[in-house]
Amino acid sequence: MLNNSKIDSEQLKKFRHEVTRCMLLYKFALAEISTKVNILQEEFQLIHEYNPIEHVNTRVKSPESILKKVQKKKLPLSIPSIQENIHDIAGIRIICSFVSDIYRIADMIQSQEDIDVIEVKDYIKNPKPNGYQSLHIIIKIPVFMTYGEEYVFVEMQIRTIAMDFWASLEHKIYYKYNKKVPSHLTDELKEAAEVAAHLDQKMEKLNNEVTLLKEAEADEETIEDPSDTVKLLYNEIKKIELRYRQ
Ligand code: GTP
Ligand code: MG
Repeated sequence: MLNNSKIDSEQLKKFRHEVTRCMLLYKFALAEISTKVNILQEEFQLIHEYNPIEHVNTRVKSPESILKKVQKKKLPLSIPSIQENIHDIAGIRIICSFVSDIYRIADMIQSQEDIDVIEVKDYIKNPKPNGYQSLHIIIKIPVFMTYGEEYVFVEMQIRTIAMDFWASLEHKIYYKYNKKVPSHLTDELKEAAEVAAHLDQKMEKLNNEVTLLKEAEADEETIEDPSDTVKLLYNEIKKIELRYRQ
Protein backbone atom coordinates (compact mmCIF):
# COMPACT_ATOMS: atom_id res chain seq x y z
CA MET A 1 0.00 0.00 0.00
CA LEU A 2 2.72 2.38 1.11
CA ASN A 3 4.79 1.32 -1.87
CA ASN A 4 1.90 1.92 -4.28
CA SER A 5 1.17 5.37 -3.00
CA LYS A 6 4.89 6.16 -3.39
CA ILE A 7 4.74 5.08 -7.03
CA ASP A 8 1.54 7.09 -7.53
CA SER A 9 3.01 10.26 -6.14
CA GLU A 10 6.14 9.78 -8.25
CA GLN A 11 4.04 9.20 -11.35
CA LEU A 12 2.00 12.23 -10.52
CA LYS A 13 5.14 14.32 -10.11
CA LYS A 14 6.44 13.07 -13.46
CA PHE A 15 3.11 13.80 -15.13
CA ARG A 16 2.95 17.31 -13.65
CA HIS A 17 6.48 17.92 -14.90
CA GLU A 18 5.51 16.71 -18.38
CA VAL A 19 2.43 18.96 -18.50
CA THR A 20 4.48 21.99 -17.41
CA ARG A 21 7.17 21.23 -20.00
CA CYS A 22 4.52 20.87 -22.70
CA MET A 23 2.80 24.17 -21.80
CA LEU A 24 6.20 25.90 -21.76
CA LEU A 25 6.87 24.66 -25.29
CA TYR A 26 3.74 26.46 -26.51
CA LYS A 27 4.73 29.61 -24.63
CA PHE A 28 8.19 29.53 -26.25
CA ALA A 29 6.73 28.83 -29.70
CA LEU A 30 4.56 31.95 -29.31
CA ALA A 31 7.57 33.99 -28.17
CA GLU A 32 9.43 32.87 -31.30
CA ILE A 33 6.65 33.59 -33.76
CA SER A 34 6.01 36.96 -32.06
CA THR A 35 9.66 37.89 -32.56
CA LYS A 36 9.44 36.90 -36.21
CA VAL A 37 6.33 39.04 -36.68
CA ASN A 38 7.98 42.00 -34.87
CA ILE A 39 11.04 41.79 -37.09
CA LEU A 40 8.89 41.73 -40.23
CA GLN A 41 6.84 44.65 -38.95
CA GLU A 42 9.83 46.86 -38.09
CA GLU A 43 11.69 46.06 -41.28
CA PHE A 44 8.58 46.66 -43.35
CA GLN A 45 8.09 50.00 -41.61
CA LEU A 46 11.67 50.99 -42.42
CA ILE A 47 11.48 50.06 -46.11
CA HIS A 48 7.93 51.04 -46.98
CA GLU A 49 7.41 53.78 -44.39
CA TYR A 50 4.17 52.33 -43.16
CA ASN A 51 3.06 49.79 -40.61
CA PRO A 52 1.12 46.83 -42.07
CA ILE A 53 0.18 45.49 -38.61
CA GLU A 54 -2.31 47.17 -36.29
CA HIS A 55 -1.75 44.81 -33.37
CA VAL A 56 -0.86 41.26 -32.39
CA ASN A 57 -2.37 39.01 -29.71
CA THR A 58 -1.14 35.64 -28.53
CA ARG A 59 -2.73 33.10 -26.23
CA VAL A 60 -2.15 29.59 -24.97
CA LYS A 61 -5.35 27.55 -24.86
CA SER A 62 -6.62 26.93 -21.33
CA PRO A 63 -6.41 23.36 -19.94
CA GLU A 64 -10.24 23.31 -19.75
CA SER A 65 -10.57 24.13 -23.46
CA ILE A 66 -7.90 21.56 -24.33
CA LEU A 67 -9.81 18.87 -22.42
CA LYS A 68 -13.10 19.89 -24.10
CA LYS A 69 -11.46 19.46 -27.50
CA VAL A 70 -10.03 16.08 -26.47
CA GLN A 71 -13.59 14.96 -25.68
CA LYS A 72 -15.08 16.52 -28.81
CA LYS A 73 -12.50 14.88 -31.07
CA LYS A 74 -12.60 11.64 -29.03
CA LEU A 75 -8.81 11.68 -28.62
CA PRO A 76 -6.82 9.53 -26.20
CA LEU A 77 -6.09 11.51 -23.05
CA SER A 78 -2.29 11.60 -23.30
CA ILE A 79 0.22 14.38 -23.80
CA PRO A 80 1.64 13.03 -27.10
CA SER A 81 -1.87 12.62 -28.55
CA ILE A 82 -2.83 16.15 -27.49
CA GLN A 83 0.39 17.57 -28.95
CA GLU A 84 -0.11 15.76 -32.23
CA ASN A 85 -3.85 16.29 -32.74
CA ILE A 86 -4.72 19.68 -31.27
CA HIS A 87 -3.18 22.34 -33.46
CA ASP A 88 -4.49 25.49 -31.83
CA ILE A 89 -3.01 25.25 -28.31
CA ALA A 90 -0.70 28.12 -29.24
CA GLY A 91 -2.50 30.88 -31.13
CA ILE A 92 -1.37 34.17 -32.62
CA ARG A 93 -3.79 36.69 -34.09
CA ILE A 94 -2.38 39.40 -36.34
CA ILE A 95 -4.60 42.36 -37.14
CA CYS A 96 -3.61 44.12 -40.36
CA SER A 97 -4.52 47.48 -41.80
CA PHE A 98 -5.48 46.21 -45.25
CA VAL A 99 -6.38 42.90 -46.93
CA SER A 100 -3.25 43.06 -49.12
CA ASP A 101 -1.16 43.30 -45.93
CA ILE A 102 -2.69 40.02 -44.72
CA TYR A 103 -1.34 38.16 -47.74
CA ARG A 104 1.97 40.02 -47.60
CA ILE A 105 2.54 39.04 -43.97
CA ALA A 106 1.34 35.47 -44.65
CA ASP A 107 3.77 35.09 -47.59
CA MET A 108 6.67 36.45 -45.57
CA ILE A 109 5.99 34.05 -42.69
CA GLN A 110 5.38 31.05 -44.96
CA SER A 111 8.62 31.58 -46.87
CA GLN A 112 10.79 31.40 -43.73
CA GLU A 113 12.91 28.26 -43.88
CA ASP A 114 12.45 27.05 -40.31
CA ILE A 115 8.66 27.24 -40.56
CA ASP A 116 6.65 24.26 -41.80
CA VAL A 117 3.28 25.23 -43.24
CA ILE A 118 0.82 22.49 -42.34
CA GLU A 119 -2.51 23.94 -43.47
CA VAL A 120 -3.89 27.16 -44.95
CA LYS A 121 -7.60 28.02 -44.73
CA ASP A 122 -8.47 31.13 -46.68
CA TYR A 123 -11.78 32.32 -45.28
CA ILE A 124 -11.25 35.65 -47.07
CA LYS A 125 -11.44 34.17 -50.58
CA ASN A 126 -14.01 31.64 -49.29
CA PRO A 127 -15.88 33.16 -46.31
CA LYS A 128 -17.68 30.76 -43.93
CA PRO A 129 -21.46 30.48 -44.51
CA ASN A 130 -22.07 32.77 -41.48
CA GLY A 131 -19.88 35.45 -43.09
CA TYR A 132 -16.68 34.83 -41.06
CA GLN A 133 -13.53 36.05 -42.80
CA SER A 134 -9.86 35.53 -41.84
CA LEU A 135 -6.76 33.83 -43.14
CA HIS A 136 -5.85 30.81 -41.00
CA ILE A 137 -2.46 29.17 -41.20
CA ILE A 138 -1.35 26.22 -39.11
CA ILE A 139 2.43 26.12 -38.88
CA LYS A 140 5.04 24.07 -37.08
CA ILE A 141 7.92 25.99 -35.58
CA PRO A 142 11.09 24.61 -33.93
CA VAL A 143 11.65 25.35 -30.25
CA PHE A 144 15.18 24.77 -29.01
CA MET A 145 15.15 23.16 -25.57
CA THR A 146 18.08 21.90 -23.45
CA TYR A 147 17.49 18.35 -24.75
CA GLY A 148 17.14 19.31 -28.43
CA GLU A 149 14.59 20.86 -30.77
CA GLU A 150 10.88 20.19 -30.83
CA TYR A 151 8.47 21.24 -33.56
CA VAL A 152 5.38 22.88 -32.13
CA PHE A 153 2.03 23.63 -33.81
CA VAL A 154 0.90 27.25 -33.85
CA GLU A 155 -2.42 28.53 -35.25
CA MET A 156 -2.12 31.90 -36.96
CA GLN A 157 -5.20 33.98 -37.65
CA ILE A 158 -4.57 37.02 -39.84
CA ARG A 159 -7.41 39.49 -40.43
CA THR A 160 -8.27 43.17 -40.83
CA ILE A 161 -9.71 45.43 -38.13
CA ALA A 162 -13.16 45.14 -39.73
CA MET A 163 -12.96 41.32 -39.84
CA ASP A 164 -11.80 41.28 -36.21
CA PHE A 165 -14.60 43.60 -35.12
CA TRP A 166 -17.12 41.33 -36.80
CA ALA A 167 -15.61 38.10 -35.38
CA SER A 168 -15.60 39.34 -31.80
CA LEU A 169 -19.22 40.46 -32.04
CA GLU A 170 -20.28 37.18 -33.66
CA HIS A 171 -18.40 35.26 -30.96
CA LYS A 172 -20.24 37.18 -28.21
CA ILE A 173 -23.64 36.59 -29.86
CA TYR A 174 -22.87 32.90 -30.49
CA TYR A 175 -22.15 32.27 -26.80
CA LYS A 176 -24.90 34.58 -25.51
CA TYR A 177 -27.45 32.42 -27.35
CA ASN A 178 -25.64 29.24 -26.36
CA LYS A 179 -24.71 28.44 -30.00
CA LYS A 180 -28.37 28.67 -31.16
CA VAL A 181 -28.50 32.15 -32.66
CA PRO A 182 -31.99 33.29 -33.83
CA SER A 183 -32.24 33.46 -37.62
CA HIS A 184 -32.90 37.22 -37.77
CA LEU A 185 -29.53 37.73 -36.04
CA THR A 186 -27.64 35.29 -38.28
CA ASP A 187 -29.07 37.14 -41.29
CA GLU A 188 -27.98 40.49 -39.89
CA LEU A 189 -24.53 39.15 -39.05
CA LYS A 190 -24.13 37.88 -42.61
CA GLU A 191 -25.12 41.29 -43.90
CA ALA A 192 -22.69 42.99 -41.48
CA ALA A 193 -19.89 40.70 -42.74
CA GLU A 194 -20.62 41.84 -46.30
CA VAL A 195 -20.54 45.48 -45.17
CA ALA A 196 -17.20 44.82 -43.41
CA ALA A 197 -15.75 43.26 -46.58
CA HIS A 198 -17.00 46.22 -48.61
CA LEU A 199 -15.39 48.64 -46.14
CA ASP A 200 -12.08 46.76 -46.44
CA GLN A 201 -12.21 47.04 -50.23
CA LYS A 202 -12.99 50.75 -50.03
CA MET A 203 -10.22 51.44 -47.51
CA GLU A 204 -7.70 49.55 -49.65
CA LYS A 205 -8.71 51.54 -52.74
CA LEU A 206 -8.44 54.84 -50.85
CA ASN A 207 -5.07 53.85 -49.45
CA ASN A 208 -3.78 52.99 -52.93
CA GLU A 209 -4.92 56.37 -54.21
CA VAL A 210 -3.25 58.21 -51.32
CA THR A 211 -0.03 56.26 -51.88
CA LEU A 212 0.00 57.18 -55.57
CA LEU A 213 -0.64 60.82 -54.68
CA LYS A 214 2.17 60.81 -52.14
CA GLU A 215 4.56 59.32 -54.69
CA ALA A 216 3.59 61.92 -57.28
CA GLU A 217 4.09 64.71 -54.74
CA ALA A 218 7.47 63.34 -53.79
CA ASP A 219 8.52 63.31 -57.46
CA GLU A 220 7.32 66.88 -57.96
CA GLU A 221 9.15 68.06 -54.88
CA THR A 222 12.53 66.89 -56.15
CA ILE A 223 12.07 68.89 -59.35
CA GLU A 224 10.24 71.99 -58.19
CA ASP A 225 10.87 72.43 -54.52
CA PRO A 226 14.44 71.68 -53.53
CA SER A 227 14.19 73.97 -50.54
CA ASP A 228 14.86 71.64 -47.64
CA THR A 229 18.40 70.91 -46.63
CA VAL A 230 18.33 67.17 -47.19
CA LYS A 231 17.21 67.57 -50.76
CA LEU A 232 19.77 70.30 -51.41
CA LEU A 233 22.48 68.09 -50.04
CA TYR A 234 21.20 65.20 -52.15
CA ASN A 235 21.31 67.32 -55.30
CA GLU A 236 24.81 68.55 -54.44
CA ILE A 237 26.03 64.98 -54.03
CA LYS A 238 24.42 64.08 -57.34
CA LYS A 239 26.26 66.95 -59.03
CA ILE A 240 29.59 65.84 -57.55
CA GLU A 241 28.88 62.28 -58.64
CA LEU A 242 28.17 63.46 -62.18
CA ARG A 243 31.37 65.52 -62.27
CA TYR A 244 33.34 62.46 -61.24
CA ARG A 245 31.76 60.36 -63.96
CA GLN A 246 32.68 62.88 -66.72
P1 GTP B 1 -12.04 24.80 -34.02
O1 GTP B 1 -12.23 23.34 -33.73
O2 GTP B 1 -13.09 25.68 -33.42
O3 GTP B 1 -10.68 25.27 -33.64
O4 GTP B 1 -12.24 24.96 -35.58
P2 GTP B 1 -11.52 24.22 -36.80
O5 GTP B 1 -10.54 23.21 -36.32
O6 GTP B 1 -12.57 23.79 -37.77
O7 GTP B 1 -10.66 25.38 -37.44
P3 GTP B 1 -11.06 26.75 -38.09
O8 GTP B 1 -9.81 27.15 -38.81
O9 GTP B 1 -12.31 26.73 -38.89
O10 GTP B 1 -11.29 27.73 -36.84
C1 GTP B 1 -10.28 27.97 -35.92
C2 GTP B 1 -10.60 29.20 -35.09
O11 GTP B 1 -11.01 30.30 -35.90
C3 GTP B 1 -11.71 29.07 -34.07
O12 GTP B 1 -11.27 28.45 -32.91
C4 GTP B 1 -12.12 30.53 -33.88
O13 GTP B 1 -11.17 31.20 -33.04
C5 GTP B 1 -11.98 31.09 -35.28
N1 GTP B 1 -13.25 30.95 -36.00
C6 GTP B 1 -13.56 30.03 -36.94
N2 GTP B 1 -14.81 30.19 -37.39
C7 GTP B 1 -15.32 31.24 -36.71
C8 GTP B 1 -16.59 31.92 -36.74
O14 GTP B 1 -17.52 31.55 -37.47
N3 GTP B 1 -16.76 32.97 -35.90
C9 GTP B 1 -15.76 33.42 -35.09
N4 GTP B 1 -16.03 34.46 -34.30
N5 GTP B 1 -14.55 32.81 -35.04
C10 GTP B 1 -14.34 31.74 -35.83
MG1 MG C 1 -9.82 26.77 -32.20
